[in-house]
Amino acid sequence: MSASVTSPRVLAIDGLSGSGKSTVARAVAVRLGWAFLDTGAMYRAVTLAVLQNGIDPADRAAVVGLLGTLGVEVTTDPQDVRVTLDGVDVADAIRTPAVTAAVSAVSALPEVRAVLLRWQREAVARASESGTGIVVEGRDIGTVVLPDAPVKIFLVADALVRAARRAAQDERRTGGERPQGQVLAELQRRDEADSSREVSPLRAAPDAVTIDASELAVDEVVNSILHRVAESVSR
Ligand code: DC
Repeated sequence: MSASVTSPRVLAIDGLSGSGKSTVARAVAVRLGWAFLDTGAMYRAVTLAVLQNGIDPADRAAVVGLLGTLGVEVTTDPQDVRVTLDGVDVADAIRTPAVTAAVSAVSALPEVRAVLLRWQREAVARASESGTGIVVEGRDIGTVVLPDAPVKIFLVADALVRAARRAAQDERRTGGERPQGQVLAELQRRDEADSSREVSPLRAAPDAVTIDASELAVDEVVNSILHRVAESVSR
């Protein structure tokens, strides 16, 4: 395990789909002047490549074969997050419903998780070497990727609140409106798939602080997390 994993300036944020994780994690990184890593973007970029190559996400050998050929880059500047696949900007392409529908199957493959775990720890080590802290956001950060992170947050929110938020987000992104019931069903399917997979399932680490964001504004969640980080860094 790299030295960075035990750094006091590492913050792990995990949680449910649509809980506001990305928005909160990025805002916390900006306020702290730390780097930010969206690990979901890595899983999404690999999934996009799987679909673009006409590979069935269930065809494990084909997915694994493809993985070794991919150049996935996710930048760690919270003010300028860019995602590229073999040099092509895929920031929008990784958020389409087709990628969202296939990402749980791809991210359940142990070989995929092993490679992305390595990419993620490398990104943390780079941030640490350059002297900054890092906020890492995902599903298994506190449990698997950075089990020694001194501050771990697990963000949850009521399913209806999450569906409403995600539907509004999708609408802003695509201009198209989708029934909230459909968005809710998709969220629940993804949470269930991510929580029940064998390798690194979505779950709170025993030492994580769970924050229910259902009735909190983004700033309130951000301030509560900043407070915990300040406490930890001054300890
Ligand atoms: O955070 P997101 O919705 O962009 O993540 C997309 C998917 O990637 C999510 O459904 C499960 C997977 N994922 C994962 O398995 N482990 C992570 N650390 C991050 C995301």
